[in-house]
Amino acid sequence: MPRKPLIAANWKMYKTPAQAQEFVKNFLPLVARHERDEIVLCPSFTSLSVVIAAVTGSGVAVGAQNMYSAEEGAFTGETSPLMLKAIAATHVILGHSERRQYFGETDETINKKLNTALKHDLVPIVCVGEVLAEREGGKTEEVLLRQTRGVLAGISAGKAAPIVIAYEPVWAIGTGKTATPQIAAEAHKVIRGEVAKLLGAQVADNLRILYGGSVKPDNATSLMNEAEIDGALVGGASLDAQSFAKIVNY
Ligand code: PGA
Repeated sequence: MPRKPLIAANWKMYKTPAQAQEFVKNFLPLVARHERDEIVLCPSFTSLSVVIAAVTGSGVAVGAQNMYSAEEGAFTGETSPLMLKAIAATHVILGHSERRQYFGETDETINKKLNTALKHDLVPIVCVGEVLAEREGGKTEEVLLRQTRGVLAGISAGKAAPIVIAYEPVWAIGTGKTATPQIAAEAHKVIRGEVAKLLGAQVADNLRILYGGSVKPDNATSLMNEAEIDGALVGGASLDAQSFAKIVNY
C-alpha cells in the first residue's frame, strides 16, 4: 500500500489565537477538496483549542508542538498527553531541533515522550537531523543512526505503526537553504534502513518520513516527487494561508 503523505505546519512561537483563527478561515477554502494528504496544523498551546474548533468538519487535523512524558504531576509549565487528548488534538511534534538546541531535549527524553504519545494514541512526529558541522564533517549518517536508535529505543514493532519521523537537517531550518531532493532522499534511506533493522521491514515500509527545512511553494513539488519523501514539516512558509495551501496542493 502506498504511504499517505502528511503535510504539517509548525507555527513555532507565532500567532495569537485570533491570528490562528484568521489563518484557518482563509486556509480551509483553499484545501476544501484536498484528500491526497493528511494535513496537520501545529499552533502554540494557547491557540490549540480555537484552531481545533475552527477546523471542525474539515479534513484538517491539529497537533501540539511538544508535550511532557508524564500524564500529570508537579511539572510547572508542562502539558500532558491527557490534556492534549481532552481537547481533541491528534498529533504531536516531538524532539524538534529547537527543543534539542534551546531546551535541552535529548534522544532519551524524546524517547520517553514518544512512549507516552503512543500510549495515548497521539500521532507522534519525531524529529531527527544533523547540524551543519556534522554534515561538513561527514558525520550525517552516524548522527541519523544514533538519533533514530535513541528515539526508538525499546519501542516494539507492534506499537510503532503511528510513528512519523521528520528528517530536518538543522542547517536547512529557517535558513532558506533547502536540502536537495537527493540529499533528503539519501537521509531518508538511512533512517528507513535503520528502522527496518530495529522494527522490521513492514514497519519500515509503512513508516512516513517527512522532510523539513525551508520547504516553500516553489520547492515542494520536487521534494514530494521523491519516492522516499512522504510529506513535509513546514515552518516559515506555513504561517501564511496562501503559501501553505500552495505547498499542500503541490
Ligand atoms: P522552516 O522550519 O520551514 O522555517 O525551515 C521547519 C521546521 O523547523 O520545522
